[in-house]
Amino acid sequence: MSGARVAVLHGVNLDMLGKRDPEHYGTVTLIELEVRVGQWARKLGLETSFFQTNSEGEFVETLHDAPDLADGLLLNPGAWTHYSYAIRDALEITDLPAVEVHLSRVEEREQWRHKSVLEGLVKGVVSGRGADGYRDALEILAKEL
Ligand code: DQA
Repeated sequence: MSGARVAVLHGVNLDMLGKRDPEHYGTVTLIELEVRVGQWARKLGLETSFFQTNSEGEFVETLHDAPDLADGLLLNPGAWTHYSYAIRDALEITDLPAVEVHLSRVEEREQWRHKSVLEGLVKGVVSGRGADGYRDALEILAKEL
């Protein structure tokens, strides 16, 4: 659907991109990443909005509001991915198509990063592709919109 609205939601510590371990996260800052995602989305005919928080409750509330503001979701909840059942429940309530994205290859890192509480709710997972992974994630999402 051309003009579909995609909310790009970043969770805890992703505001620190550019200062985090470049081996896992590259050197791109969150703002630079958002600019790139916005450009890729436009090429796919999608509109974007961006949000980042370090507060789990704010992330949940943003998901509660999402159905009024977006047609699909691109999610990188950071470490919450691995344990926040509150975020899983809130995503389920949205009933929106969502794609999960991680800059680093979580499945090859510590064991605790291998689990995603979003499993089964998302249309796809992209990990370990750095910033380019967001383009892949947008392409997956575009097919659902
Ligand atoms: C991350 C991976 C998570 O395990 C980690 O806690 C993050 C970032 C990623 O983008 O690779 O904060 O979601």
